[in-house]
Amino acid sequence: MQISPLSERFGVAIDGIDLGSALDPEAFDRLHRLFVDHKLVCFKNQSLSAEAQIAFSRRFGPLEVHILSQYNHPEHPEIFRLSNRVVDGKPMGISDGGSYWHSDLAFQEQPAKATILNALEIPPEGGDTLFVNMEAAYEALSDEWKQRLQGLQAVHRYRRKQTTDGQSTQVELNDAQKNQTPDVVHPLIRTNPDTGRQSIFAHKGMTAEIVGLPREESDRILDFLFEHTVQPQFRYDFRWSPGDVVMWDNRSTMHSATTRDLPPGQYRSLYRTTVRGERPI
Ligand code: SIN
Repeated sequence: MQISPLSERFGVAIDGIDLGSALDPEAFDRLHRLFVDHKLVCFKNQSLSAEAQIAFSRRFGPLEVHILSQYNHPEHPEIFRLSNRVVDGKPMGISDGGSYWHSDLAFQEQPAKATILNALEIPPEGGDTLFVNMEAAYEALSDEWKQRLQGLQAVHRYRRKQTTDGQSTQVELNDAQKNQTPDVVHPLIRTNPDTGRQSIFAHKGMTAEIVGLPREESDRILDFLFEHTVQPQFRYDFRWSPGDVVMWDNRSTMHSATTRDLPPGQYRSLYRTTVRGERPI
């Protein structure tokens, strides 16, 4: 296994491992450690079938089936398809999935631990995934801010609100999907149980308001956090190559896709598996 940094800030690239082959417990433990320590891992030169992606992902925990079932793989519902291709009038996946700052499934009581994206088709330019190290963003807060935020809880909502800056999902939920996504409450500062380290858990695309505070004060704090977290020193824009399988820790990062910005005729298709996490603490 060759391991190299993805950026000066966080993330590693790993070459020389075939995720489609059976990983012995030692190799798996090593990968798990790299995943929690570096938060973002890119496995180079893979060629994973849907079945192999599911088998690899399951090693990390139970898999979620996304509530937007119209985009799930018809034979493997654990695979959520991200694609801007339309074949015979039928979308091959969600075309603008996650083109706003969020942490996967933050709108659920048990948000995602890991997301695994398998690149099937990558455009020559664009379609990057933008990442933020939320642990570094927390550590950079002043002591006053750290104290102010400790113990606060925030409401997370799948459709936070329709904003003019596009910072929310534009997908229409049907009534059943709306019923499956009631508001949930999570701590604003969460601790990753695998590392004991704290992170900010607030994302412009899904974090709606702080519990128990007047609206104005809640907006002031959240606006500060939304601006603070996206500063360049915490951020890394990942450029995809064909054969990449990328995995990240949603408990200590947030991300945004950029598929909405792709020019017509540029195609991007990925298979996503999502590992269920614990209730944030
Ligand atoms: C996601 O938000 O899970 C998808 C990210 C991407 O397509 O770059």
